Amino acid sequence: MIHEELYKTIFTRRSIRKYDMTPLPEQKLQEIKNFADNTKKLVPGIKCEICFLDKENVKNIFPIKAPHYISIYSEKKEGYLMNVGFMLQQVDLFLSANNLVSCWLGIAKPSKEVPTSNNDMEFVIMLAFGNTHEKLHRADTSEFKRKGISEITSITGADELLEAARLAPSASNSQPWYFSGDQNEIIISREKLSFLKAPIFNRINQIDMGIALCHLWLSIEHQGKTAYFDYTKSNAPKGYEFMLKVKVGGGKSC
Ligand SMILES: Cc1cc2nc3c(=O)[nH]c(=O)nc-3n(C[C@H](O)[C@H](O)[C@H](O)COP(=O)(O)O)c2cc1C
Repeated sequence: MIHEELYKTIFTRRSIRKYDMTPLPEQKLQEIKNFADNTKKLVPGIKCEICFLDKENVKNIFPIKAPHYISIYSEKKEGYLMNVGFMLQQVDLFLSANNLVSCWLGIAKPSKEVPTSNNDMEFVIMLAFGNTHEKLHRADTSEFKRKGISEITSITGADELLEAARLAPSASNSQPWYFSGDQNEIIISREKLSFLKAPIFNRINQIDMGIALCHLWLSIEHQGKTAYFDYTKSNAPKGYEFMLKVKVGGGKSC
């Protein structure tokens, strides 16, 4: 699927928590697996593996019962949580673009060890997915509950570019992102967490950052430009922690 279709889906996708339990046809599952195995990485050097689980193989204290779950495993290298968010959000958008529905599950775990090809990999997170009898898509962006653009950026003239990132899903809708710098070099920062919130959100908020970056990357491509990810440190605004910079280049790369 071309990136433009994923981009368009950003403006209508939603999380679904009630599923039709009829399993999807094998061919559909294969299509999803092929897409998932070929997603773009934020950090190309990190090895990841994606597998499908069914409800018998998932433990969830707030059960969301779905016919299928997609589970991601990763090497634990610098930036791996953002990388996982970046990759799996492409799958979340792909599902929505194909009239399927999904929900990120921050607490669920596989009920048994799933063998991966590399022992250094750990389970990171999963997405529930399938069909639903509920409404598949939002009608327009007024149906999103999100911070306003001025709460997440100080950059003038970049509202259109950043709108896709503003609409990104996050754990407990926490939206921990902030965009500063300028339109050509966007500094991406994450909200610093209080002593009380840190144990709950420190890990998962890094996945959220990867999700917002996926939306930003698609938005940059939509404008016919290229995103370059640069980890050279810059100053973050007060109350935020620097994550990376996105440099916006002229033409599209492959
Ligand atoms: C990393 C992550 C973890 C999440 N974990 C859960 C979860 O455990 N249970 C749940 O019901 N929703 C979960 N969500 C869904 C969010 O609550 C949802 O994305 C957010 O409220 C925004 O709503 P929307 O996705 O419909 O736009 C999670 C979302 C993300 C991005």
